[in-house]
Parts: sequence; structure tokens; C-alpha cells
Amino acid sequence: MSPPADRTWRTGKAPGALPLLGHVLPLWRDPLGFLASLPSHGDVVEVRIGPGRAYLVNHPELVRHVLLHPRVFDKGGIFDKARQLLGNSLSVSRGEEHRYQRRLVQPAFRPGKIAEYTRAVADDTNSAIAAWSSGDVRNISDEMHALLMRVAARTLFSTGLDDATIEEARHCLRTVSLGIYKRAMAPLGVMEKLPTPAKRAYDHANTRLREIVATMIDTQRRSPSDRQDLVSTLLRAEHPVTGEKLTDRELLDQVVTFLIAGSETTASTLAFVFHLMGAFPEVEKRVHTEIDEAVGDRAPAYEDLPSLPYTRNVITEALRLYPPSWMAMRVAVEDVELGGLPVRSGAMVLYSAYAMHRNPELFPSPETFDPGRWEADRAARVPRGALLPFGAGSHKCIGDVLALTETTLIVAAIAAGWRLRPVPGTRLRPEPRATLEAGPLPMICERR
Ligand code: HEM
Repeated sequence: MSPPADRTWRTGKAPGALPLLGHVLPLWRDPLGFLASLPSHGDVVEVRIGPGRAYLVNHPELVRHVLLHPRVFDKGGIFDKARQLLGNSLSVSRGEEHRYQRRLVQPAFRPGKIAEYTRAVADDTNSAIAAWSSGDVRNISDEMHALLMRVAARTLFSTGLDDATIEEARHCLRTVSLGIYKRAMAPLGVMEKLPTPAKRAYDHANTRLREIVATMIDTQRRSPSDRQDLVSTLLRAEHPVTGEKLTDRELLDQVVTFLIAGSETTASTLAFVFHLMGAFPEVEKRVHTEIDEAVGDRAPAYEDLPSLPYTRNVITEALRLYPPSWMAMRVAVEDVELGGLPVRSGAMVLYSAYAMHRNPELFPSPETFDPGRWEADRAARVPRGALLPFGAGSHKCIGDVLALTETTLIVAAIAAGWRLRPVPGTRLRPEPRATLEAGPLPMICERR
């Protein structure tokens, strides 16, 4: 299996490998800075991780090639570890099993369904911020994580969860998400075995999260079947060919996965959006004007989305600068050539949306926050596949439309009534974890 052969690719090695360690130190200390420095060394760059070799793919055509050939570049490594937690759900399953699940679940993510699931997003947002007063200083990262847990719960189970359970689920989710990240980074699976307090906290959070979700699914099963939420839709779902339904265990694995894959990513995106709007008042002003004209005093709804193109461009630009899924990996399942480099079976193949989105050959002035680059004429000049916040191919994010819908509705609901000002002296320090997080972001709330 070879990538497009009609051009010559640049290949290189990441500089500064240390004996034995390779590039482990820069990857550990400053992964974002290190990854963003690598596209200048080639379309494919060899990185040394201890004695092993990994290949960072930087050119959009080669990244597409990797993602569109899952039989050659498969999910392995950290996904095998995540399977212990997520069961055999969409994000970790492979091959025929993955194709089967995806066909069963995909119809639940159609735009018409998403319109139904997101009916209460604006109301939930307004209840979550009802306690805000002008002059409050609030950590917008925390606020968005709490809000997204509420919104995700309502999208999944239209009845939502009570406040105490939402708080508990949020706490469990953060512990589990951090645990997955640490396990992914820990060599030799040591963390999974040692009976440390962190391991006990992780195991407890994992068990509780699954209990909470299982109880909600059970309640859902016993309530009227015509409800329009994601779990009810999945309870009714049948495979288009075999007519089979999801088993209880499969449904639980999928729903836990949706919570983990969907809430922290969307919450981080929102935190970055509000940080950027606060830092660029002229952008914020255009967003406010657009929302005032399109929505007025009503709560924003799915049907308003086509009238909010500038708000959407702001979100897209935030996803370019701060893609929550900042790095992803595959494993070569056979000896292959990638951009001219021989890649051995079992080698790790990486791509970083963060590095690609900051490559000046793909995006002029890549460090500049410029929502205008997504206006039709300029967007048409962006190379195919260069913007990749939701991945591509058979494992492309199934929740992309849902995430963009929720994000736009939440921005519209908050910005309709509030202006968020950065606390002077606050510096954004993105934290690359399982998701790229915005870190603490204290902002001053001003009623408009
Ligand atoms: C801004 C928000 C989000 C971002 C940036 C994001 C990003 C991504 C990316 C990059 C992938 C592909 C990973 C890979 O190829 O290895 C992915 C997969 C996935 N995402 Fe999202 N996601 C978001 C929101 C959501 C939401 C809201 C849900 C569900 C409710 C969701 C569910 C999933 C699932 C289940 C997969 C695995 C799909 C498969 O392998 O078939 N995501 N996401």
C-alpha cells in the first residue's frame, strides 16, 4: 500500500535525539512546541521514543492516506489500553467489528436527530449561568466543563441528571480521562498494576461512572419509547442489514465513550473560544452583532445556525489553533513505505492536528487568530485536509455535527447576555492531556 506516488515527499529526522531516550524529554516537557517544530523537517519525520521509532506525518495528503487505509494503519497501542476501560466501543474497535458498530450507531447522529437532541441546550446554558453576576470573576474552563456535563447528560438522556449526579459524573470523568492519558504515556503498563492511591481513585471513578450511566440507561429503557434523545434513539436502533440491536453491554460501552469523547473536547473548545473573544474585542463585537440580529431576545435554536456564519468561523478558527484532539496515532500492521520512508510493521505512525494547523505552508501567519480565513473565498484556498480537528476516514469523529451544534448554541446563548473579559495578567497555558485543555482561565463577567 503506497501513498500518492506523483510527487516527491520530504523526509527527515527530528533533531536532538539523546542516546537511549531519543526524543522522550522534549515530548514529555513541551509536546506542543516539539510537535509544532517538526513539519519544517519533512512531510514525514522520524521521531525516536526510547529505542523505538515513530513517524510523524505532516503533509495533509499523507495524513489522509494513513487515515483512509485503516487495514494498513490500524488502531493499536494506546487504543488497546483504552479498550480495558471503554470495552469494545466505537473509538477503540477495529476492522469488521468497527464497521458493524458504525453502521448501527451512525443513524443516531443524523442532522435531523441532532436538531431534536439539542432543543434544550440554550435553556441548560441559561440555567447554568443563572448564578453569574456582573463583576464576577469565574474560571471559564471550569464553568464550561460543568456546563458541558449538563448538556451532554441532557443530549443523551432527555430527562438529564440531577445536579449532584452531574457533579459526581463530572468528577469521575475528569479522573478517568486523566487516568487514560497517564496510562497512554506510561511505558510497560506499570500504572495499571501498582496499587497506588491514583490507581484506586481511577478504578473507583471508572466504576462509578459506569454505574451512573447504567442506571440512566435502565431508567430510559423503562420510559416511553418515542423520546428523542441519543440513548432512546440507540435503544431503538437496528443494524440496516442484520436487524440486530445493541446489547446492554454494547450500549453502556458506547454511551460511556460518548461522554468521554464528547464532553471534555467540546468544553475545551468553548473555553478557548471565550478566551479568544475576550482577547480580540473586535471579533467579539461582530459575534455580538450577528447574534443580536439573528436571534434577538429568543433562546437560540438549531434553526438559527445558518444565520450565525461568523460565530461558526470563530469556532472553526479556535479549533484550528487549539484542536482538542492534538495528537492521534495508528500502528503499521505490515511493512510499508510512507512518503519514501520504510516503516516497519508495528511502528507507531502519528499525526498532530496541532502541528499541522500551525504549519505556515498550509496556513499563512498560522499563529494569528483570524476567523476571516474561513470566509468562502479564503477557505477555498486552504489545502485539502489541512484542517483536521475531527480526523478523517472510517474513524472520523461521529459527533462532529453534534459538537459544532452544541458549541454554536452555547456561544450564542452566553454571548447574547454576557461579555467575558480576561483578568489582566492572565496568560493562556494550554495543557496537552487526553484532550488539549485551556487550563485555568479566570474571566470577568460583564452583563451586556
Ligand atoms: C469539539 C469537539 C470534538 C472534537 C474536537 C472531537 C475530535 C475527534 C477526533 C479527532 C476523532 C478521531 C480520532 C482518531 O482518528 O483517532 C474523534 C472520534 C470520535 N469522537 Fe469526537 N470530537 C468531538 C466531539 C465529540 C462528541 C460530541 C462525541 C459524541 C457524543 C464524539 C464521539 C466520538 C467517537 C465515538 C469517536 C470514535 C469514532 C470512531 O472511531 O468511529 N466526539 N473525535
